[in-house]
Amino acid sequence: MTPTNTQLATLLVQAGNRYDAATGAISMPIYQTASFGHPALGQSTGFDYSRTSNPTRLALEETLAAADGGHRGFAFASGLAAIDCVLRLFAPNDRLVVTEDLYGGTFRLFEKVFRPLGIEAAYADTSDLGAVRAALADPRVRGLFVESPTNPLLRIADLRAIAALARSRDVLTIVDNTFLTPCLQRPLDQGADLVVYSATKYLAGHNDVIAGAVITRTPELSERVAFLQNAVGSILGPQDAWLTLRGLKTLALRVAKQQENALAVAEWLGSHPHVRHVYYPGLPGHPGRDILLREKSGWGGMIAFEIDDPARVPGILAGVRVFLFAESLGGVESLITYPAVQTHADIDAETRRRLGINAGLLRLSIGIEDVRDLIGDLENVL
Ligand SMILES: Cc1ncc(COP(=O)(O)O)c(C=O)c1O
Repeated sequence: MTPTNTQLATLLVQAGNRYDAATGAISMPIYQTASFGHPALGQSTGFDYSRTSNPTRLALEETLAAADGGHRGFAFASGLAAIDCVLRLFAPNDRLVVTEDLYGGTFRLFEKVFRPLGIEAAYADTSDLGAVRAALADPRVRGLFVESPTNPLLRIADLRAIAALARSRDVLTIVDNTFLTPCLQRPLDQGADLVVYSATKYLAGHNDVIAGAVITRTPELSERVAFLQNAVGSILGPQDAWLTLRGLKTLALRVAKQQENALAVAEWLGSHPHVRHVYYPGLPGHPGRDILLREKSGWGGMIAFEIDDPARVPGILAGVRVFLFAESLGGVESLITYPAVQTHADIDAETRRRLGINAGLLRLSIGIEDVRDLIGDLENVL
């Protein structure tokens, strides 16, 4: 069976199967080895040293590449390690146009690690085509780094339009597709050059592993990323590669259920008297909804909402019984996060205020529980 003529759900379920011809093991074995013996001088089994390549990691990487329709996939020790690798494709004095309300850890990487090295981020509202066009006019810009939907405000970029703009200026487009996954959005099909993931989230899906991934569009980019992955060495170990592979098998099922639950929760929140605003791209009236419909993408399982009085926040966080007050997303269990003091604390207060990441904003990662329990839990605390 070749990945290219297989539906995505089938490809994911079968990930790593039929690999071990020697034993017929259904599940991909965990190749817990640093090194591989050589059959003879000048010969290799295809594997030499696990920093360079490891069979368990390779099964995951091949699955990730096929799922996104890319040339190659690369698995890293974390989402930030994957993003770090991609930013190393740039040189001092290069600039990247970057989504302004992006994950705080990525912002920290840009500001505290890459800016001192001379690689600068110029922040823009990537849901505004005019703002992206204006930002790309700077001749120093060599890259466009987009999160869509954004974290936590779920703004939607027209990836097809902005990738075309970037390409016309010879600018590389990188999309962080953590929130929608290849099941709900395929950035390479829309013209992006590289896709990055925090595989910690939906791809692995069970809040039990930290992992990251890069998917490349062209052989040339694959060669450069493969070089960096091996040269820098922030690879995913075989145990964590196996856990991620195992998680991927149910990705299509999970995201479908998470999205169904999220739409119901978002609709319910929208009619609650203590809720001032709900950010969810599946709700009619959301400015990005038409773009996602046109691209046959989905809305995903993330919701942000603003309550009428920030003084209620401590009670909500202490009172939830089904939602867990914790800092992550994309797992089977539902989580509630307070972006201003958790995920986005590294973004300065003025920027947070301007973006709308205020003291009354809460973020939900919707899981696969019975949606009646999720709504009941919110009803109790609100
Ligand atoms: C959108 C997004 N990108 C990247 C990351 C970083 O991933 P990791 O925590 O796996 O390093 C996160 C983490 O929350 C994220 O939400």
